[in-house]
Amino acid sequence: MGATAQYDVKDLGLANEGRKRIDWAARDMPVLAQISKRFAKNKPFKGLKMAACLHVTAETANLARALKAGGAEVALCASNPLSTQDDVAASLWKHDRISTYAIRGENSATYHKHLFGVIERGPDLTMDDGADLVSALHTTHTRYIDNVKISMEETTTGVIRLAALEKKGDLKIPVIAVNDAKTKNMFDNRYGTGQSTLDGIIRATDLLLAGKTVVVIGYGWCGRGVASRAAGMGSRVIVTEINPIRALEAAMDGFRVLPMARAAREGDLFVSVTGNMHTIAAAHFPVMKNGAVVCNSGHFDIEIDLKSLKKMAVKQRLNVRHCVDEYILPNKRSIFVLAEGRLVNLSAAEGHPASVMDMSFATQALAADWGWKKVCSSKGLSVSVHQLPESIEDGIATLKLKAMGIPIDHLTAEQKKYLSSWDMGTN
Ligand code: ADE
Repeated sequence: MGATAQYDVKDLGLANEGRKRIDWAARDMPVLAQISKRFAKNKPFKGLKMAACLHVTAETANLARALKAGGAEVALCASNPLSTQDDVAASLWKHDRISTYAIRGENSATYHKHLFGVIERGPDLTMDDGADLVSALHTTHTRYIDNVKISMEETTTGVIRLAALEKKGDLKIPVIAVNDAKTKNMFDNRYGTGQSTLDGIIRATDLLLAGKTVVVIGYGWCGRGVASRAAGMGSRVIVTEINPIRALEAAMDGFRVLPMARAAREGDLFVSVTGNMHTIAAAHFPVMKNGAVVCNSGHFDIEIDLKSLKKMAVKQRLNVRHCVDEYILPNKRSIFVLAEGRLVNLSAAEGHPASVMDMSFATQALAADWGWKKVCSSKGLSVSVHQLPESIEDGIATLKLKAMGIPIDHLTAEQKKYLSSWDMGTN
């Protein structure tokens, strides 16, 4: 790929398969379709250059199509080296003329070259899933940052990074924490991660979850989702936490709560969903059962201390199955690592189903619309991490309910009056 390449994908010959996959996902993304229609009419992004660093999946392709329908020139690169669907990437360039730089399995140098591929287009607006674009704009590619007026962040890990940048006083562009919208995290993080993580584990291993002891590390929205889905499939679930409120919640949701040092001895399957480093650490491997399976569904591949595992292993058998590596320890026990410790739901499966990404990407699209209008307004938008207004979340939830054929009640005039009064107490 040269400096001015319009795209870098594995094989354009995969494009027709990719288009089928994108169209299949579109059937389950009715809210995004309505927004796309509105964008096509009003062209809110006319003349705008957008750079997006997202998982290159069929669902993301539908978001990119919607942004393009709104008048944007969109360039897309992968937010994880193992999550790209190569057929989708090929179709995005071949059929939609959306510049796409993503190849599944790309090495670190190519990953960063692809990041640069979208940055050097001189975007006005950026979208991130994990903050790699914003990070590059603040460090290695600073000469492009003046042109960027606003950025959107899709995931918890990215919002944490950006909040740290803001706290240090070094953030240079306004950012919208799309992740923090209820229409994103309550659904995508919980039901999306819950289902797609188990999907990735099952596709990789073909394990029966019923009767297995599953250790869920972290009880945020993602952990809650994974724990409830694993329990629903008949697993005995143990939760580990560092936050007392979340630990209590897990206990009252009916799960055993243990420190990791004890849980490590009991689990058949370990799923880390914390966003933090080395939650499965060197000390845990030697006490695990023979045949224990470990995986990560947090954004970065830092949750499992793979380096230490590799160091202590007396033998490695890579790819014993697709996405499964075996490490044999001095105590002769085998530990199986899924997807090289990268996001198991996107590496071994297809990520969250389209129906839930419909809400995430409707939120993302409307955040871009709202944010761009704000930065273009006379008041502008301060250089900080912003939350989306609740009215946008309510609008998305209303559209989703309608698409699902679920009517709800509305306050009567009497109830509205009661809620806004203070003087009606004990009769
Ligand atoms: N994150 C999780 N699942 C995803 C998907 N299917 N597409 C894009 N981003 C995702």
